Amino acid sequence: MYNDNPTLHDLETKTVDETKQGEVFGADFAPKRPGEKRFYIESYGCQMNFSDSEIVASILGEAGYGPTRDLESADLILINTCSIREKAEDTVRKRLRVFDKVKQRHPGTMVGVLGCMAERLKAKFLEEEKLVDLVVGPDAYRDLPGLVAGAEEGEKGVNVFLSREETYADISPVRLQSNGITAFISIMRGCDNMCSFCVVPFTRGRERSRSAFSIVAEATDLFDRGYREVTLLGQNVDSYKWENPETGESVNFAQLLAMTAAVDPALRIRFSTSHPKDITDEVLYAMRDHHNVCKYIHLPVQSGNSRILELMNRTYDRAWYQAKVDRIYEIMPDCAISSDIITGFCTETEEEHQDTLSMIAYARYSMSYMFFYSERPGTPAAKKFVDDVPEPVKKRRLQEIIDLQTDISRELNAAEVGKSFEVLIEGDSKKSAADWKGRTTQNRMVVFPKLEGEKPGDYVTVRIIDSTSATLFGAR
Ligand code: 5AD
Ligand code: SF4
Repeated sequence: MYNDNPTLHDLETKTVDETKQGEVFGADFAPKRPGEKRFYIESYGCQMNFSDSEIVASILGEAGYGPTRDLESADLILINTCSIREKAEDTVRKRLRVFDKVKQRHPGTMVGVLGCMAERLKAKFLEEEKLVDLVVGPDAYRDLPGLVAGAEEGEKGVNVFLSREETYADISPVRLQSNGITAFISIMRGCDNMCSFCVVPFTRGRERSRSAFSIVAEATDLFDRGYREVTLLGQNVDSYKWENPETGESVNFAQLLAMTAAVDPALRIRFSTSHPKDITDEVLYAMRDHHNVCKYIHLPVQSGNSRILELMNRTYDRAWYQAKVDRIYEIMPDCAISSDIITGFCTETEEEHQDTLSMIAYARYSMSYMFFYSERPGTPAAKKFVDDVPEPVKKRRLQEIIDLQTDISRELNAAEVGKSFEVLIEGDSKKSAADWKGRTTQNRMVVFPKLEGEKPGDYVTVRIIDSTSATLFGAR
């Protein structure tokens, strides 16, 4: 789900995927044909939101709207929002000020707020932000064309209905953010865990799994179009469970992995996110037994201390999580594990913070997404606990966590020097058109010189000759 190593970014901007926040998708700045309508969409938050924007693009495409990256020529400006931390919401409010100016320059332009913040604030958004014409929650995107038509008649539209069934299974996403090689497939929506800090169960509703057949069909279609890697996406992929309505047989996540791995041996399968309580031996064996299922697990620990884990309602304690890590390395010694960590949760002591540091060292995470706790209105933690760790303390603890994780990432990467890896070429490296970038099965980024006749989508063997905490450098 995450493409970037946030250990490299500054403290103030801890979001899920720094490089992509606010990314705008769509065709370039080609002049509009007469009568043509264009939408502009900016996305924030997790990969699921970015995936949802592709579903929105598909729905709007059917309704006659084309994508544009030019704000000034858009008839409809959409912002797909995140509520996970206060900062994510602040960013959206700032963007709305910019959209307000565009709207003043081009009266008639409509502005819609989508996603988690729309769901959290509902119609209140229309009172708070006068420029907003549409407020649409994550399960109501099919209603967008109708709501847009209403808004064109001057009727502000709100649909924040959360569904128990909607998976958008039949909608073929428009690949807005594509490099043509790697893509995301949403396999489930919502979340039934009640982590006390988290707003997601309130903004994305109940957990539901998408038809396994439609997932495999999407993977097959992507492979046929030249894609070589898919990431199966969900808030909690290991609790995937879908019942075939014709046979009554059910498919669990391990079986789904095997089914997608069978699409083609040259299609890599990744997945995200795993809740430690749900990842089973059956899943680990499915990973081990399929060469094309990548040896990488994103296994958020959140805290290394059992008392804090209990307050967070994570349903495991330190020893249980450690046993899970042991099991992963036992079944797949070459597997990489990464994590999400929250520091400064309510009542966290200095000693308990030390437990998180020692967990990073124990699990030897290849990387982590690290945040300080941000209280979210309406969550169990906001109702039950006091957000009592002072901000300077939170920031200092976060910095210690980032420093340790960076050291460990650097060490683990340095240990790869001298080894050779199969790398899937994703495209030109950021810094030089003479180099490719790609990833190992463990999700480590490798930069290496191009050779004649190679192209993105090829698998090549690369020998590692140098490394930093975030990147391996290869030779041939
Ligand atoms: N404050 C800080 N971080 C949070 N996360 C979720 N809720 C909060 C919060 N209230 C983090 C968790 C989660 C990741 C997506 O965001 O680490 O795994
Ligand atoms: Fe943000 Fe969570 Fe919503 Fe994703 S599901 S956009 S991380 S609040």
